[in-house]
Amino acid sequence: MSIEQLAETAQAMVAPGKGIIAIDESTGTIGKRFASVGLENTEENRRAYREMLLTTPKLNEHISGAILYDETIRQSTKDGVPFAKYMADHGIIPGIKVDKGAHALAGCPGELVTEGLDGLRERLQEYYKLGARFAKWRAVINIGESIPSGTCIESNAHALARYAALCQECGLVPMVEPEVIMDGDHDIETCYEVTEATLRSLFDALYQQNVLLEGTILKASMVISGKGCEEQADVEEVAESTVMCLKSTVPAILPGVVFLSGGQTDEQSTAHLDAMNQMGNLPWPLSFSYGRAMQQAALKLWAKDTKANIAKAQQTVYDRAKENGLAAQGKWNG
Ligand code: 13P
Repeated sequence: MSIEQLAETAQAMVAPGKGIIAIDESTGTIGKRFASVGLENTEENRRAYREMLLTTPKLNEHISGAILYDETIRQSTKDGVPFAKYMADHGIIPGIKVDKGAHALAGCPGELVTEGLDGLRERLQEYYKLGARFAKWRAVINIGESIPSGTCIESNAHALARYAALCQECGLVPMVEPEVIMDGDHDIETCYEVTEATLRSLFDALYQQNVLLEGTILKASMVISGKGCEEQADVEEVAESTVMCLKSTVPAILPGVVFLSGGQTDEQSTAHLDAMNQMGNLPWPLSFSYGRAMQQAALKLWAKDTKANIAKAQQTVYDRAKENGLAAQGKWNG
């Protein structure tokens, strides 16, 4: 795989006014989302739900790609078209979550390290054959009393870099995601410090593993107050802190940065992205790769009637994509 092809895919993922929809929840996580709206966690419900999302009319106006889960990339529409083929035919780049989840980090109570490197080369080769052109790996950095430790930050950065190098070897653009978790009562300054240390360590590790940044996308968390913090930073402060933190850690050669929503409301996630893009003068496109903030309205509607409400639910997916697509250009009119 040439770097030109990887760079072309990466640039298409962050094309102006476009972002990613993350629908890569593991079977356990989608089960929790389904339970919250009274849906049973069966394979057919998961398939039908993902079909509803992926077949949203005109989705590619504001969505460049979608991240699938292992089960989903092997599933098809009710008419028998594999989801990855359906997406490619409709101008949506198929992506795949390839990590095997965050597990307790030995010797570091309360901290996690993401697993999944064993056998990854073979899995990536298979996903490429199934149509995937980018892959996601999520590391989890918790903030709390005396954490994160350097051990946690470095272990996760190392795993992200090893995965990213393998992705590029197999022709997939790595979407590297070090998520600094919003849970906790920490303030925005603490989030800034932790995010800065995490990103510095990540880009060091990517360099050590010979990862080509031109063919890499960063999926970042915003610099934001902890959910339990009494003094919540406002939209301007989140936007300014996030952009400053990224500018001081992320090389300009990276094709783009996309954000996760991480538990923000739909409106917050859009307002923050819009405010960052309104600042202008950014070295890279800043866009979105939201899961919950793209889906939660649609899931509620679909759960009420999984047949009659398909069009209504798809309209909310389209609307959220459009709003976030405008925010990715600093043109959202809240
Ligand atoms: P949220 O936007 O719901 O945080 O999910 C995005 C994602 O893919 C996390 O890995």
